[in-house]
Amino acid sequence: MKIVVTGGLGFIGSHTVVELQNQGFEVIAIDNLSNSSIEVLDGIYNITGKKPIFENIDLREKQSVQDFFKKNQDIVGVIHFAASKAVGESVENPLLYYENNINALVYVLQELTKLPEANFIFSSSCTVYGQAEKMPITEDASIQPAISPYGNTKQIGEEIIRDVAKVTTINSILLRYFNPIGAHSTAEIGELPIGIPQNLVPFITQTGMGLRKELSVYGNDYPTPDGTCIRDYIHVVDLAKAHVIALQRLLKKENLEKVETFNLGTGTGSSVLEVIHAFEKVSGQKLPYKIVARREGDVVEAYANTDKANKILGWKAESTLEESLASAWKWEQKIRKN
Ligand code: WQD
Repeated sequence: MKIVVTGGLGFIGSHTVVELQNQGFEVIAIDNLSNSSIEVLDGIYNITGKKPIFENIDLREKQSVQDFFKKNQDIVGVIHFAASKAVGESVENPLLYYENNINALVYVLQELTKLPEANFIFSSSCTVYGQAEKMPITEDASIQPAISPYGNTKQIGEEIIRDVAKVTTINSILLRYFNPIGAHSTAEIGELPIGIPQNLVPFITQTGMGLRKELSVYGNDYPTPDGTCIRDYIHVVDLAKAHVIALQRLLKKENLEKVETFNLGTGTGSSVLEVIHAFEKVSGQKLPYKIVARREGDVVEAYANTDKANKILGWKAESTLEESLASAWKWEQKIRKN
């Protein structure tokens, strides 16, 4: 069965292509290479012995999207990762985010309405919850006004999908990720941030390699046990496996509603300092860091209630924080060796 993975050469996309191919799906990876590299195809091949079909398409070009789907009427599912995802950048350049994260979504959905069968998995984020009142966060926690254009595009994306579901045959599952980290155990694929990493773990592993002088910890005066923010760090392979399970749920028509929503996390919160100490343990080296001012827009804590995904999808994250960090560290060491 033919599945399209948009953003298929990206961090989560490439790991999902691997898991789809491991399950025997025929995959078309669409990517405009704006935040990924073509070498990822080799990494996928080295892991699975197969390369997905690759289409270098910018989904902001409506005609290109239409031409692609016209040529591929036998697609049974789309997993949509393609989007810009840097919170800070979205504040500086909101129109880039609304164009890339909303227009592209609309063009893909328009084409899905023309297919005989359409199953759609949407890459959403725990960002939609903002600072949730209650931990761990359940799927029915209220959606807070977005604090960044990036977060707003995820909220708007979910609303678009719900509206479209009411008047089309498209079945969708919204997957709200917490904090994806780590890399495939083979170190053939992993996270490839361009420039200075915005996210904690790639900054830590680059600091561990001496590429960065020290980590800046954005505030230790939060109302948490050690004063630093708490997040739910989930291994990217666990996340990828959840996408395949969600897609199979739709293909088997097991979904109970036309739009279902699941939180994807480990269910455990870890503070920034706990991540640092876990990294020092797995790397066997001290991590230089300094405490600096809080980062605008950070929530104090966010970790998932995973009961719904566990019970309904039959999925549970397997990797511990240390295992995830060890895989990120192995990947960082490998890419810096070459
Ligand atoms: C984690 C914690 C920082 C960097 C964002 C998006 C989310 C998803 C993941 C796309 C925070 C602290 C970080 C650093 C630090 N994006 N930190 N020093 O902000 O929880 O989530 O990225 O899917 O949607 O919102 O992730 O890794 O940036 O930060 O102290 O150099 O690490 O303050 O507490 P975040 P993050």
